[in-house]
Amino acid sequence: MGITDLLLLGKEADLGSERGVSCDGALPSPSDPDLVERANQARSSLGDRAMILGHHYQRDEVIAYADIRGDSFKLAQAAADNPSAEFIFFCGVHFMAESADILTTQNQKVILPDLAAGCSMADMATAAQVEDCWQELEKLGVAKKTIPITYMNSSAAIKAFTGKNNGAVCTSSNAMRAMKWAFEKGEKVLFLPDQHLGRNTAVLSLGLKLEDCVIWNPWKPSGGLSEAQIKMAKVILWRGHCSVHGRFTVENIENVRRVLPQVKVLVHPECQHEVVARADVVGSTEMIIKTVTDSPSGSKWAIGTELNLVQRLARENPDKEVVFLDKTVCYCSTMNRIDLPHLVWAMEALLAGRVVNQIKVDEQVALQAKVALERMLALP
Ligand code: 13P
Ligand code: SF4
Repeated sequence: MGITDLLLLGKEADLGSERGVSCDGALPSPSDPDLVERANQARSSLGDRAMILGHHYQRDEVIAYADIRGDSFKLAQAAADNPSAEFIFFCGVHFMAESADILTTQNQKVILPDLAAGCSMADMATAAQVEDCWQELEKLGVAKKTIPITYMNSSAAIKAFTGKNNGAVCTSSNAMRAMKWAFEKGEKVLFLPDQHLGRNTAVLSLGLKLEDCVIWNPWKPSGGLSEAQIKMAKVILWRGHCSVHGRFTVENIENVRRVLPQVKVLVHPECQHEVVARADVVGSTEMIIKTVTDSPSGSKWAIGTELNLVQRLARENPDKEVVFLDKTVCYCSTMNRIDLPHLVWAMEALLAGRVVNQIKVDEQVALQAKVALERMLALP
């Protein structure tokens, strides 16, 4: 009896784990005429024991198999709320899969179909750099008044640092609530690693001044800041950004307003401050989709976020005009690493008794990171 039969019968199978395997040469070709049939077959053979989570930036060919599509907050919640799914195929990027592993039970396994699906913004802060920064704040006597908030787009080790130091995780859909919560507990916020989300939240959502924020450059001694600057700042922003959202400019907004009268500009809060300040609506990927979907027929939208999402939104709303804010095409290259061949490869490997590309966070790290993630899930 093969693993397929065992899975179909719902019996326990002795599945080996192959952490770190990226692809063992068995990756189907994208032009394989049987690829969709293989994907359908594998998905139905795995049944309820597997759940597929798909971030909104995923390709259509992958999203077609997602049991739940969402922004990073919704997917974290879905992972936490589905303890009966033994295997979670996370179609998104590495930090999201780590969070899913932390929020699921010991019996569940999280699989990232391509281990190269990382996030360049998350890589802009290492745990060692963040510890150095904290030590500096301790030396100046400000760490005890500072609450660290880390964006979901960060490693598990940074989430653990945040949990250990009375802080919380946030996503783009609850950054304002997380920062408010932090200011109820302390006098300063250390916001990691996206300077734009941090600044946009502090200034545009909470009404702080631009001068209340300083930027910590991890590559410079003392973050490139003087003692006075650190002591005066209300928000210490890590010098990180998203290269996809960093491309949108004020000029893009002016151009689209010129060529499409009455267009509404809707952007993700990872965009630069000047862009977000001039947009009509700002929100997470989930909020962007909901806003356009709920808008009246005939409305016009210029969207500043990743292109897979925008193209799908345009197709799903043929009664509205949905355009990409920039003229230059821009996908998130790491999100795009997950394609149907990798998903089929990972599902078929599981059916053959091999768990490939399992994302497993170190137990100690997971414990502290979970504290920070649960604080986020409990935000009002
Ligand atoms: P969302 O939480 O809005 O899905 O954003 C995640 C992300 O990586 C945006 O670049
Ligand atoms: Fe990371 Fe930017 Fe891609 Fe989001 S869009 S996953 S922040 S690189």
